[in-house]
Formats: sequence, structure tokens, C-alpha cells
Amino acid sequence: MMGGATARVPAKINLHLGVGPLREDGYHELNTVFCALSLYDDVTVRAADEFSVTVRGEGQHDVPADATNLAARAVAAIAEYAQVPDPQVAIEIEKQIPVAGGMAGGSADAAGALLAAARLWRLDTGREELHDLAASLGSDVPFSLLGGAALGTNRGEELLPVLHRGELHWVIVAAKGGLSTPAVYHELDRLRAGRGETVPPPERPDELIVALASGDVHAVAPLLHNDLQPAALSLQPRLRRTLRAGGEAGALAGIVSGSGPTCVFLCDGEDAAISVATELSGLGVAKAVRTAHGPVPGARLIPAH
Ligand code: C5P
Repeated sequence: MMGGATARVPAKINLHLGVGPLREDGYHELNTVFCALSLYDDVTVRAADEFSVTVRGEGQHDVPADATNLAARAVAAIAEYAQVPDPQVAIEIEKQIPVAGGMAGGSADAAGALLAAARLWRLDTGREELHDLAASLGSDVPFSLLGGAALGTNRGEELLPVLHRGELHWVIVAAKGGLSTPAVYHELDRLRAGRGETVPPPERPDELIVALASGDVHAVAPLLHNDLQPAALSLQPRLRRTLRAGGEAGALAGIVSGSGPTCVFLCDGEDAAISVATELSGLGVAKAVRTAHGPVPGARLIPAH
């Protein structure tokens, strides 16, 4: 019997996403507040005679089941870093997080694969080394490891935990079809260039940080903000209808999550979230509607599947 390890990793949303100008390295300077939500992917890494990737659940056919999968790249990266002599593994991913939805599903899988592989091979990889490996795999991967609520700067990979009180209740509306993150950033650059704007560096959203510490959902709601939203709406105009419908159904506020097209709606408690979700489910605007709460902890090991 060969060993295995499973990690459970939350989805993320950006409560604030401030995007600076395009940098020479192709990235944008960010100032963002991440929040981890109770929607999880489980990633299992087992020792195997042959490499394989199996994906089950939400959007399983839209995720590459080969070495290009971000989880497979994560396993390869940590194997190389720790010089694991026989790094052959079978990777199983059970997805709840929408694929290409702006909720860091791929990053979650990479973070889970790092943790599970480290456990499988009994590596003593420290927190900082894991963070650096995570950052090399993608801008959101370090936050998938950390979880909770955090301020992200630089590409989004430099993190500072943010104090928060209580739980926020959300409705998650996964759109039909995905959006490519680079395409959305590119669209933002195009829209900004068309307006001839000089883009200032993104500022820290201090008001939101104070509101999160207060635990007052009514203070948080009007401060949700996403600079990528106009670009996501430009590429998928029907999301406007989704955002409108969430407000009409009683959500306190709604935004596109990250690069979209998932829309997330902040509600005044769990019961309100359930009633907003029920109403939105009936409209047929989405592929899936669910509720979730956050912040929740980042990637963690659970008993192997
Ligand atoms: O880092 P990650 O691979 O997740 O980023 C995917 C793409 O998103 C990048 O190639 C880039 O086009 C865009 N991006 C960006 N600025 C960031 C993060 C991501 O332009 N800070």
C-alpha cells in the first residue's frame, strides 16, 4: 500500500482589488484585500508507479489532467526544490471552486499539492520556503496557503494578515463560461489606454481594513471594490444583469470576484444569503449559485481520502 496525503484549500475573493499600471515584467502592481471563503478543493497526492492527474467535481472537464495542471507543476517544483529521489505521484483533485472563475481555483490546487506532497515525502519545508515556492507558481498561490483575510501587495504575493471580526456571509454566482485572467488584465489596459488615463499606483484600502476589524457588515458592504470589474463586464456584458439581480434579491453589495466571471454578493447574515441564493437560482443567470462564509483558514491537511 503506497502512502498519500490530502489537503483542503479554500477559494478566495478580493474584497478590494486595486490595480496599478502594467509593469515591464508583464504584471500589474496590486493593492488587494483577499478573503478566503468556505468553498474548497481537496487535493490528494499519492506515491504511484506512473504519473497521473484526475479531476472530479465542478468544471472537471475544463481542467487539464496532465503535467500542465497547476497542482502537477507544484508537485514538480517542490520535488525539485527538495531533491526528492523518486517523485512519481498520482494527483487527485476534487473541485468545488469554479474553474476560471476568478476565485483562485488553480492556485488552490497548487497550494494543496505543495502541502500534500510535503506531507507525503515527510519534507521539513518551512513556511517561508513554501511561500516562495507558492509565489513562483502564481500570484494568488501564497494566499491560498495562508487563508483568512490578508492585504496583498506587489503581484499579490506579498501578504500581511488583516484583522477581522466575525464572519461575512456570501452568495457565489458562478457564470456560464470562464474568463482568462491575462485577458481581463489586458482588457483593463486597453480600456485605460482608450481613456488616455495615467494610472496611479494602487492605494491601501484603509477604510475597508478598519471596517473588517469592526465586524460590521454594513460598514464593509459599500467598500467592496474591484478595478478589474469594468474589464470583466466589458468581456462578459451579461454579468451586469447578474450584479443587478443580486441587488434586487436583497444583497447588501455585489462585485465581480477577481478577474471574474464569478460574482459574489455580501448579505446581512446567513438567512439573508440563503434567501438571495434561492432567488438568484430561479433566474437562470448562472451555472451554479451557492452560499459560503469567510474568512476561513488557508490550506490544511485533512485525513487522506
Ligand atoms: O501570477 P498568475 O500566473 O496567477 O497570473 C496570471 C496572469 O494574470 C499574469 O500572466 C498576468 O497577465 C496577470 N496578472 C497581472 N498582474 C498581477 C497578477 C496577475 O497582470 N499582479
